Amino acid sequence: MSYKQTFLWAVDNFLENNKKQQMIKEAALWIKKGEVIAFPTETVYGLGANALDEQAVRKIFEAKGRPSDNPLIVHIAEAEQLNDLVLQVPSVAKKLIEQFWPGPLTIILKKKEAVAESVTAGLDTVAVRMPDHPVALELLKEAGVPVAAPSANLSGKPSPTNGEHVYHDLKGRIAGILDAGGTGVGVESTVLDCSSDVPVLYRPGGVTVEEIEAIVGQVKIDPSLKSKDEAPLSPGMKYTHYSPNGSLTLVRNRMQIPTLLEEAKSQGKRTGVLTTEENQDFYEADVVVSCGKRSDLATVAHKLYQSLRKFDEEKAEVIFSEIFPSEEMGIAIMNRLEKAAGGNII
Ligand code: TXA
Ligand code: MG
Repeated sequence: MSYKQTFLWAVDNFLENNKKQQMIKEAALWIKKGEVIAFPTETVYGLGANALDEQAVRKIFEAKGRPSDNPLIVHIAEAEQLNDLVLQVPSVAKKLIEQFWPGPLTIILKKKEAVAESVTAGLDTVAVRMPDHPVALELLKEAGVPVAAPSANLSGKPSPTNGEHVYHDLKGRIAGILDAGGTGVGVESTVLDCSSDVPVLYRPGGVTVEEIEAIVGQVKIDPSLKSKDEAPLSPGMKYTHYSPNGSLTLVRNRMQIPTLLEEAKSQGKRTGVLTTEENQDFYEADVVVSCGKRSDLATVAHKLYQSLRKFDEEKAEVIFSEIFPSEEMGIAIMNRLEKAAGGNII
């Protein structure tokens, strides 16, 4: 499916409220008509369609080039909507919802029939979250239906953290984009399976494991998050993601990076380094990108994807990245970097 025009609704903070509402209404109308539009959330931009309409949901997969075995997250504006989507809400899930919704926590539960087949890729569970973004919440309320939405990037590319990223990837492939500028968190939601007794972490994200465990006690961690030899429990986690066009290597000891850069330069390659404010003056490469402050990992998460996209914009061919501590937001950051590097870490 291709579109002659992809509508751009700029709903930034400078716009009068009634104009903003008008644009959100228009976008919601497209969703009600069974079309696909992109919208901001607090994590990354999503590509939304009516989660109860099979034909509409298929358009998401088509627009992104997403493999059909990779299920989507359903977005809702009111906790009560959960009852239309899932068979039951166990007490653990209730506690987490109370604490973290709206917010970057996705909860997986046993699904009801009404959810379109391709949303869940044939699984008997569905992933649901309530985004913490005023535009997303208003869109969901206006649409009046649960909205299935993956990140609004071409499959395999870094998730979009502003409207331009979405436009770059999906122009002509979707009906429109609600553009509210940059997102806050910058990495996707945490995905937690609450369909059995002990919650299982499938994807680290905006809510940290430490924060979840403070509410419900210890959670299981999908073994594949710690060992490359295990197959991921969540279908989407097996794909390489977020990759820049150049080759990316994560370097445990950053003191080795200058030598690695010299080698790449001697082979005539355009080089890049992903680093932080603290260390950015340390490297001589064609493209040095600082993704926030190492001393504040939330700033790194916030800038991670735009930083990875920068290497494509600047046509870097060989890229080296520092690594981050595997705690708090660092767990999500390292998970995305390892995927972006295709597991290439030295
Ligand atoms: O922050 C986010 O979560 C963003 C925004 C747009 O809300 N969305 C997002 O969606 O990251 P996506 O499609 O890029 O990632 C969804 C992840 C995939 O890894 C998928 O495999 C997993 O959630 N998932 C969805 N439903 C599942 C299910 N029933 N069982 C296991 N994993 C599931
Ligand atoms: Mg994604």
